[in-house]
Formats: sequence, C-alpha cells, structure tokens
Amino acid sequence: MRPLKVLFVSPEVEPFVKVGGLADMVGALPKEIAALGHDARVMCPLYSTTKRVGEWISREEPLGVEVGPETRWARTWETTLPGGKVPAYFIEHDWYFGRAEVYSEASDNPYRFAFFCRAALTLCEQLGWVPDVIHCHDWTTGLLPVMLNTTLRDTTLGKVATVFTIHNLEHQGLAPRALVEFARLPAGEFRSDSLESYGSVNMMKAGLYHSTKLTTVSPTYAQEIRTRDGGFGLDGVLRFRSADLLGILNGIDAAAWDPATDASLPANYSAADFAGKTKCKAALQEKLGLTIDPHVAVYGVVARLVHQKGLDLLGEALGHIVERMHVQFALLGSGDERVEAMFRHAMTRYPGRVGAFVGFNGALSRLVQAGSDFFVMPSRSEPCGLTQMYAMRYGTPPVVRATGGLVDTVSNFVEGGEAGTGFVFREANSAALYQAIGRSCAVYYDRPAEYRAMQLRGMAQDFSWASNAPKYVDAYRWAVESRTGVAP
Ligand code: ADP
Ligand code: GLC
Repeated sequence: MRPLKVLFVSPEVEPFVKVGGLADMVGALPKEIAALGHDARVMCPLYSTTKRVGEWISREEPLGVEVGPETRWARTWETTLPGGKVPAYFIEHDWYFGRAEVYSEASDNPYRFAFFCRAALTLCEQLGWVPDVIHCHDWTTGLLPVMLNTTLRDTTLGKVATVFTIHNLEHQGLAPRALVEFARLPAGEFRSDSLESYGSVNMMKAGLYHSTKLTTVSPTYAQEIRTRDGGFGLDGVLRFRSADLLGILNGIDAAAWDPATDASLPANYSAADFAGKTKCKAALQEKLGLTIDPHVAVYGVVARLVHQKGLDLLGEALGHIVERMHVQFALLGSGDERVEAMFRHAMTRYPGRVGAFVGFNGALSRLVQAGSDFFVMPSRSEPCGLTQMYAMRYGTPPVVRATGGLVDTVSNFVEGGEAGTGFVFREANSAALYQAIGRSCAVYYDRPAEYRAMQLRGMAQDFSWASNAPKYVDAYRWAVESRTGVAP
C-alpha cells in the first residue's frame, strides 16, 4: 500500500487559531498521519488574531481565487505544525479574514468560507500538489466537495476523494441562494438532494451529500445524528448516507496534555506522585479567590458557554449544591452572556467558594484541569468532547451527562466496584446533575481510597491518537478507492 497525500482544510488549527476542540483535532491528527508515513498538510485562513508561532514564509506568487464575477487576490504563507514537519498554509485576504473572529456573526460569513474552499483548491493547483484525499471539517468546508464533484470534475483535481468530518451538526452554515453563483457552482445544484434546504443554501448538507465518505467524532454521536432527536434536521441525509458514515473517536495530543511535563502548571505530577496536584489545587484556589483548603472537593468547568454545554443546568443547581455540600467551584468560560452573568453572580454570592474567570485562557484551562478534584460537563449534546479526556489524564474524574462522546469515554463509578472513571447521569436537568455531584462528593469524602483508584483508572486510559489515527488512514483509503476505483 502506498503512502497517501492528505490535505486537511480547516477553519481553525491549534496552536495558531482556536475556538474549540476542532482546532485541537486539526493541530494533532495531521502529525499522527505524517508519523504513519503519509504526506499530510493543512490549510487554514489567516485571521487578524492568528498567532504566528514558529517560522513563517510568505509565498511569492499571489493566489488568484475565482469567486463571484472576478478574481480575488490572496497572499499565502507557509509554516509547519510545531513538533513535526507537517506543512501548514495560511490564506491571507483582508476583506474576508482580516478580522478577529473565526466565525463572525456578519452576513458575509458563508461567502468567507466559500472563498476559503475555492482558495484551498486553487492553492493545490498552484503548488502542483494533488492530494489523494481532502479531509474537510464541518460546514465551513462543505462547498469544497461540491466544487470537486461539479466544476472541477474534469480537472487535475477531479479525482481527489473527500472525507468530511462532522464535529458539530448543530451549526450548518445557512446562506442565501446567491452563494451558489458566488462559489461558481452550477445553478442546478440548488436542489434538496444537494445544497438546498428550506429555500437556503445549507453548507453542512452540501458536505454531507457530496463528500466521498463521512466521519464523526465518536461512535455514539454517529448513532445519535441518524435519529430525529439528534439529527438537527439532517438525520434524513445521514440515514441516506449511513453506509458511508463512520464514528471515530477523537484522540488527544498526549504530549501536549501531560501533567508530568505541562510547563504551564506551577507543579508537575503523575500517577506515581500526586504532590504536584495538591500544589496545583492551592494555586487554582488562590488564582480564583477560593479559600485555600487542600481538603475541600473542587469542581472545575472549562467550556465555551453555549446552550449545547448545558451550563445553565449548573446555574440552576449551583446555589443548592453550594449551600448543601462542602464544595468549591472553579469556573472558566466565555460565550452566552446569561451564563457569564451566572458565573459572576455566583462568585459574589458565594465568595471563597465559587471562583470564576470569564474569558478564554489556555494556561488557566490547564490549571483548572490539574487543580480540580472533579470536572463538570452537563452537556445537552457532545459530539466528542476533549476536556473530559484531558481531565482524566490530569487525575480529575469527570461528572458528565450520558451523551455523544461522553458515553464513549467516561464509565460510571459504581460503589465498592473496581470500575468507573467518573460519574455519568442521564437526564438533561439540574436535579440529575445535582444528584451526580452529590454522589461524587460522597465518594470523595467517605471513600478516599475508591476516589484515588478512580483517579488512577482515568490516568491509565490511553486517549492518545495512537489507536484512532490508523482508523482515519483506513477511511482515507476507503474514500480513495470509492472515488477512483483503485485501491491506493
Ligand atoms: P468544544 O469543541 O465543543 O468547545 P471540546 O471539549 O472538544 O469542546 O474542546 C474544547 C477545547 O477548547 C478544549 O481544548 C478546551 O480546553 C478549550 N477551551 C474551551 N473554553 C476555554 C476557555 N474559556 N479558555 C481556554 N480554553 C478553553
Ligand atoms: C466540536 C464538538 C466537540 C468535539 C470537537 C472536536 O466542537 O462540540 O464535542 O470534541 O468538535 O471534534
């Protein structure tokens, strides 16, 4: 079997630009694919907030991208993903990307990413590098497979296969019909078994119909999205494409997330020696204005504050929990103003017992993971979730709702038993969360040996990409064979 050429086209990539877990995935998986002997590369837009980590070279030749009635000129940059040799290309175009946000609220959002798809394909042509497979991620890349299937079908890129990963089906990229012309796609594609959905262009749906193969980020989410309740209106398409859809659990970058070497922590630790974790707990308590106490159970949260994450359920339960249980909360997140306000309000109402930081802060997120005794994720839906895996690796058992990737990564603790890496509850309501926190709290105080054994089980889990990156290679080969009729 020959090595493959794999291009990742993504709106975010760690450590350059990150909104959520998609960036973690695209920052880590290409390196694993390269380590397995393949030529993996990444393309991403250049936003004004992108961090220029490492050495960046401006490519000399301007990139003429054909969108709408004209050619728009972009500048391109080349660097590598840190800790490897994977080339990463950034597409600079002030009009579309010279702004702070990745996913802006502006009405030109779909146009920005249609431009990006066209630009990525044009850059392949300019590089003279024809990938075997393009790995697309979520709605922002949904038009790329359509371009390959239609206007580019008879070009050098016409046989390129696509694997489209659904990270979150909830965001679909709806756009006016005019996007079809802007993206230079055939007008006939505006139909319900292609781009159209309720009179709009649906960029996610386009990706789902047109990609050679589909994956999503956990086996349970792969089931959920085929049901009416979990399909966000696209379950019909996903059932139609069922035979081409795989659920592959995300891995974590085990080198970047390791409590024994994490340079941002005030002290390091491992399963063999927890002393450093106690120091991290004290540092976290100090940082967030919590009473410094090594004995109290600290519950951490790190999340984008969006409906999906269910933190309003924590908001409803928080007062009852803090008033009835001997616990502290360390909260980090930003997003929904109401949840941000809840964080701030709880902090003033329960000084020394609830500490919060509203914002995005990578170093603090690691301190919360390391310094807490439990990690709370009451998600309504969770395609995969990386933070619960980071928590287990940092010896912090998660308290999670049974949904999506949380089902596939956290096993429920059973009293007196020898299994379980965290606490899992079923119903998406504050009473169920309250009870789960109560159960975890009781184990922490009453059965410390069982709590420690649970921490150790979590730390011993292998969530690295080692076992799942080869599944992507298989998916790539499967896609190439379906597209070209020849096994690579
Ligand atoms: P999602 O992608 O839905 O946000 P994940 O659990 O897959 O959920 O990934 C979230 C990623 O974003 C993790 O790396 C997490 O540490 C990070 N993160 C989320 N919120 C913050 C924040 N406020 N500050 C720093 N990092 C954050
Ligand atoms: C999305 C999902 C999250 C997943 C991440 C990476 O942001 O919300 O559950 O872990 O993508 O795949």
